[in-house]
Amino acid sequence: MASASHTEMIASVTDQAVAEVDAAQNEAQLDLVRVRYLGRKGLLTAKLKSIGDLPEAKRREFGAAVNAAKSLLTARIESQLLTLQRVSRASALASESVDVTLPGRRNDRGGVHPVTRTVRRINEIFHSIGFDVAEGPEVEDDFHNFGALNIPLDHPARAMHDTFYVDDDHVLRTHTSPVQIRYMKSHKPPFQLIAPGRVYRCDSDVTHTPMFHQVEGLVVGTDVSFADLKGVLTYVAQEFFETDLPLRFRPSYFPFTEPSAEVDIGCIFCEGEGCRICQRTGWIEILGCGMVHPEVFRHVGIDNEAYTGYAFGMGIERVTMLRYGVDDLRLFFNNELTFLSQFR
Ligand code: PHE
Repeated sequence: MASASHTEMIASVTDQAVAEVDAAQNEAQLDLVRVRYLGRKGLLTAKLKSIGDLPEAKRREFGAAVNAAKSLLTARIESQLLTLQRVSRASALASESVDVTLPGRRNDRGGVHPVTRTVRRINEIFHSIGFDVAEGPEVEDDFHNFGALNIPLDHPARAMHDTFYVDDDHVLRTHTSPVQIRYMKSHKPPFQLIAPGRVYRCDSDVTHTPMFHQVEGLVVGTDVSFADLKGVLTYVAQEFFETDLPLRFRPSYFPFTEPSAEVDIGCIFCEGEGCRICQRTGWIEILGCGMVHPEVFRHVGIDNEAYTGYAFGMGIERVTMLRYGVDDLRLFFNNELTFLSQFR
């Protein structure tokens, strides 16, 4: 009777343990069940220890029953562990999965800035008629930006330039003309070049920004005349605007050219009829030019009896605005994507 009741007791403990194993919701709960029954102080382990209280004859049978219960429970725990692991892996896969049918993140394509476009276009046009492209520093000394260009210290043209001074002898270049000075000092004529680049003036409103771009041109040779200047500028303007627009040369003044002129193009918006953009004149000013002043040649060591030359300078933003119909200069520099994306 005693042995039957011992065996029954083991069976009921085992049933209880199996029920708890099956009810375990996760690995931690399962481990608690394992410790409760199979641990060093576990219920089944304790049963095995109590074997000494039994009469000799019952011990073998009892021991076998406890061991069978232990291995049954161990197997059950292992299979439950596998089940729990499978379930948690499946739920992780489900929650972390990537829906490959969702639309992808879009990569916005950039475009070339309108000012850069214009520079490239102007370079191409001049390159096609044999001009070199030259560059120079944006921080210039007084000599290259002013002195050599026949603008001495007390010259009123200095005030016109609204100069940013870096120190007593250096400025942020106020025009690209100093590049001609550097080029003439280091090359022997004849030559023909353009010099595009950034220039700086302390000025800011709808038509002025403190930094803008100019392209300067310079041609020096033994037989260079104002007629050549007119011919080249007319050709370039018509190529740039892709129409046979007329050019008008108005007498003007620059310290570094003599004679000097300002050039107007026939208004491309009204074709000379007169509109808001050309202020009803039919003409739009686009550049300054003239024959290189003998004093400039003297500063750079070019024989002003043997050589003549012409130079011109124009604002790149200005012609870009005209070409693309942009009415506020500042749009070029405030990085508005809605504006820039129109030039993709
Ligand atoms: N450097 C002049 C300016 O910035 C433009 C110019 C260049 C005029 C060359 C004549 C000749 O206003």
